[in-house]
Amino acid sequence: MSNVLSQQYSKHEKLDQSNRHSVVPVTDWSERQVTYLRVSVTDRCNYLCTYCAPAEGWKASAKKELLQFEEIFAVIQIMAWRGVKRVRFTGGEPLLRRDLCTLIAQVNELPEIEEIAMTTNGHILDRYAEDLFQAGVRRLNVSLDSFDPAIFEAITRGGDLKRVLKGIEQAQKVGFTDIVLNAVLSPELSQTAQVWQSFCEKAWALGVTPRWIEMMPIGGQQAPDIQVSSVIQALQERWDLQTDTNLNCARIARGPARYYTVNDAVYKGKQVGFISPMSDPHFCASCNRARLTARGGLRACLADDREIDLKSALRMGMRGPALSPFIDQAFQGKRPQHLMNQGAPPLNVMTGLGG
Ligand code: 5AD
Repeated sequence: MSNVLSQQYSKHEKLDQSNRHSVVPVTDWSERQVTYLRVSVTDRCNYLCTYCAPAEGWKASAKKELLQFEEIFAVIQIMAWRGVKRVRFTGGEPLLRRDLCTLIAQVNELPEIEEIAMTTNGHILDRYAEDLFQAGVRRLNVSLDSFDPAIFEAITRGGDLKRVLKGIEQAQKVGFTDIVLNAVLSPELSQTAQVWQSFCEKAWALGVTPRWIEMMPIGGQQAPDIQVSSVIQALQERWDLQTDTNLNCARIARGPARYYTVNDAVYKGKQVGFISPMSDPHFCASCNRARLTARGGLRACLADDREIDLKSALRMGMRGPALSPFIDQAFQGKRPQHLMNQGAPPLNVMTGLGG
C-alpha cells in the first residue's frame, strides 16, 4: 500500500477513535443487529453464469463510479465500530479488482473484525490464494455447480473447471481449510438424486463442503421451484445426516445456511450445507447482514433494490460517525421478510451486489 493511503487511513482512525464507544450498533426496526457486511468490490466478472446474469451480459461500471479502496475502508471501519464483526468480499468477481489484498490486509488490522471471507468463481484463484491468505482471508466460497467440465462451461458460459479446481488446490496448499462450494439449484442442471450424491462425494474427496442454494429470481429470470428439501431427502436416502447442533461448530451461528454432518463410516464428519431463501418462511428472521455495492450503495437486503447512496456522502468528504445517519437510514426500512416468493418482479443483475 502506498504511504499516502496508509497515512489517510491512520488519520481517520485518529479522528474517530474518540467516538468509538459512543456509536451504537446498527439495528433495523425489529432489532436485528447488523454484524456481517458483504462488500462488492467490482461489478465485473469473467464468468456469465446463467442463473446470475442474462446472456447478453451487462455494462460494467467505469472505474470512477466504483468506490476507491480508501472509501471502502471508511465504510468498513464505521460499520465495524457499530457492530460488524465479519466481512466478506465479493463482486462480480472480486479478484478482478487489482491490489485487493492491500485493502484486505488493512481491514484485517481492525480489531473489531473477527473474520474475513471471500466469494469467488475461482478462475484466477491459484494466482492470488497465497496473497489472500497472507492478507487475512480465512474462508472461501467458490461458486461451482458441477464437476462435469462441459456442464460447468455451459452454466458459466465459458468457464474452465480445470482452472477452478487448480485454484482450490492452491488455496488448500497455502493454508485454507474452510472452503465451501456454492451450487445453485438452477434449471440448467439436471437435478437428480444421483447428481447431488455424486456432487457431495466429489466435494468431500477434495476436502471442501458442498452447499446448495435455492435459485432466486435474479437477472430478469424466473426461478424454478427446486427446493433444498428435495436435495436433503435424496442425500438422506444414501447417508445418515445429522443436523449440526454442535455449538462449537462456528458455521452454525453464521447466518442462514443450515449444515448437516454425515454420520456413516466412509464420510463420517463430512458436512453439507443448504440455503433456502425461497422455501424457508423464516429465512429472514435472523438476517444480520448489510451489503455495500461496488458503486457505493448500502443495502439492507439483497432482494430489495432500495439503497442508500454512500458514495455521495464519501465524496463530500464524510468519514467516521458522520456516515452513521446514512447507515441507519438504510436499515430503517428493512423489510421483515423478502418478497421474492410472493410474486415480486425479478431483481436486477446480481453482479455488483455481492450475492
Ligand atoms: N440464486 C441463488 N444464488 C445465486 N448466486 C448467484 N446467482 C444466484 C441466484 N440467481 C450465488 C452463487 C454465488 C453467490 C454469490 O450467489 O452461488 O456463489
